[in-house]
Amino acid sequence: MTEIFRMNEAQPRLLDETRQGLVGKPLDRPEGPKKVSGRARYAAEGLPEDAAHGVLVRATIAQGRVTGFGHDAIRDIPGVIALITDDRLLRNPAQGMAGAAPCQPGSQVFYHGQPIALVVADSPETARDAAHRLPVSYDAGTAITDPATKSAQHSGEPETSGDFNAAFADCDVTVDATYTTDAQVAAAMEPHAAIADWQGDNLTLRGSLQMLRFNRDELADSLGIDPAQVRILSPYIGGGFGSKLGIGPEAVAAAIAAREIGRPVRVVMSRQTVFDAVLRRTETTQRVRFGATGDGRIRAISHDDLVSNAAGEEFFEPVSQASQFLYGAEGLSFTQTVATISRTPSGSVRAPGEAVGMLAFECAVDELAEALNLCPVDLRLRNIPDTHPMTGQAYSAHGLADCLRRGAEQFGWAERGAPGARVEGDWRIGMGVSSAARKSMLVQSAARVRLLGDRAVVETDMTDIGTGTYAILGQIAGEMLGLPISSVEVILGDTDLPGASGSGGSFGANSAGSATFLAAKKIRATIADKLGCDPAELHLQDGIARGGNVERPLADLVDGEIVQEAVVAAGDTSKSHLSSGFGAHFAEVAVNQWTGETRVRRMLGVMAMGRILNEKTARSQALGGMIWGIGAALTEAVEHDPRTGHIVTRDLANYHVPAHADVPGDMKVVFLEERDDMGNPIQTKGIGELGISGAGAAVLNAIAHATGARVRNFPALPDRVVAAMEAAGV
Ligand code: MOS
Repeated sequence: MTEIFRMNEAQPRLLDETRQGLVGKPLDRPEGPKKVSGRARYAAEGLPEDAAHGVLVRATIAQGRVTGFGHDAIRDIPGVIALITDDRLLRNPAQGMAGAAPCQPGSQVFYHGQPIALVVADSPETARDAAHRLPVSYDAGTAITDPATKSAQHSGEPETSGDFNAAFADCDVTVDATYTTDAQVAAAMEPHAAIADWQGDNLTLRGSLQMLRFNRDELADSLGIDPAQVRILSPYIGGGFGSKLGIGPEAVAAAIAAREIGRPVRVVMSRQTVFDAVLRRTETTQRVRFGATGDGRIRAISHDDLVSNAAGEEFFEPVSQASQFLYGAEGLSFTQTVATISRTPSGSVRAPGEAVGMLAFECAVDELAEALNLCPVDLRLRNIPDTHPMTGQAYSAHGLADCLRRGAEQFGWAERGAPGARVEGDWRIGMGVSSAARKSMLVQSAARVRLLGDRAVVETDMTDIGTGTYAILGQIAGEMLGLPISSVEVILGDTDLPGASGSGGSFGANSAGSATFLAAKKIRATIADKLGCDPAELHLQDGIARGGNVERPLADLVDGEIVQEAVVAAGDTSKSHLSSGFGAHFAEVAVNQWTGETRVRRMLGVMAMGRILNEKTARSQALGGMIWGIGAALTEAVEHDPRTGHIVTRDLANYHVPAHADVPGDMKVVFLEERDDMGNPIQTKGIGELGISGAGAAVLNAIAHATGARVRNFPALPDRVVAAMEAAGV
């Protein structure tokens, strides 16, 4: 067992000393050509010859119990092989990092659309037909589908610091506003899919999953077998955004069916099933209160939220996560209420917490600025705390003020003018700002690096969900070993390899990157030893090792191969310091004053997010997040049928994620140089989710500035904008 390196203190900035010049460069993703030429195999591809096809049968009631299946009605359909009603079938996907089988309600139904069985047939069409025709009898109960139902709600203890009520009562200027956000989905392009193939008692599962180390344990636990019997392959993933964090019904059903019929089985979810039966992001109701002195010093902050989940699910959206450390105050209070209802269960969707919490919180900051008649950028700058206002922790690196100042300057904020003042024909033009913050984490992660003379291989079960993992791990290994990027191969997505953090919570680069770095660092020590120099004096570049007046080709120093494995985990610094990415989003919008349609004209995100490993993939992540912000602000809304809780917007036509036409050409990202010494050994911070955190609020604040009217129900659909303008008399 490889010893775990714990992040207990700041580490030397070795990547600033190395000479290969790979880290930070905007290098292409090495798997790109495979993806665009169709050679990268996704979960549903590479079907074994004799594979059968499974389609999930789903509940048509919102609450109750399955009492039986009319198997006879489909048994004789040509091509139908089996009906799987095994008790081990998953009803709900596992939540992220569960590492164990998720809640297993047996024949209980908790929401409309819940998987309850699997039909297996020779073709996908036959399986789908039979699944639709299968009679199911139920003992239906009464479903509560509305999160506003008081009897379904349970409030947690308030998290507090100081005395919010006293501070709030004592303030000259206050804001007390309630916002709502509709439910959202991850909407990954690749639907959830699995191919299960047994070799004796051993299972190989090709899946589309984000966290293989955890997923193997979840799958094994679901099936009641030893994790050593399970191998999961997930080398390419067509997006996840949280929807593939945990093992899902498709994978477990495929495994059970394949075992039962003695053939490989593939289960692919239809787009509608992905909407119905994969964890969504909860809708929220958020009350935000601010109290401030007349000169703009915030004294009281409160953020109370209502979210929902299905019975038996423990996940809750951490709505006020960033609200707790963005601004300082004497009194702070945060309370969460969870409604247990019959809707598709909720779970992690890109930046759980900040993505919706900051929509409301950062709009309320702007409402406070309006009440104070202060510039929203100035108000934010005046209230940045020195330490975490709730815990007293030091910040590891805190770039918020620099991001706000730099962004305001570059965006032309000084030209903003008064609310509602700028009109161009039918369009009202406005500018908005928002702070961005997203906690950065280090999660236990292992990697193995092999140095084979003049080339190297990185091996880990880490995944690349489209983020650039293949690129950055190659860059780190090449940088540390002094090899050009073309001489480094990265192998991912196989549970037979050392177990990494997986892709989630924006901690993948921090965690898998640090493990790769530490394994390569061990190899450097071996090379220094062979060269007869101190590791601190070792220089590796373009396959040449130099140190202590000696210069040798790396290949001459390696007899066969040098293999090292490293495991990294969080340590003391995760308690002593708060590591968070910070940034500032700026948006300019045009709002049609008759139809309420909003067009985003330009956007700028200035971000301080630790060491940038790859300027191109980091930029893509930041831009992608900002585009999510546009969706959250303007279009993305899951609609539930109020009678059954059933999702009616079940495809990408009715659930509108921003398309090219919705994204402005003028969309810029600026990175401010930063090193996070307390976060991890490579001084990085999480990137993926910072881009979304706050981005939508900048758009919403721009709508308020354009129109002089405040929308508080998000997304700001045209009818909601029109209603707000009418209410404000504009
Ligand atoms: Mo993320 S929502 O942890 O993929």
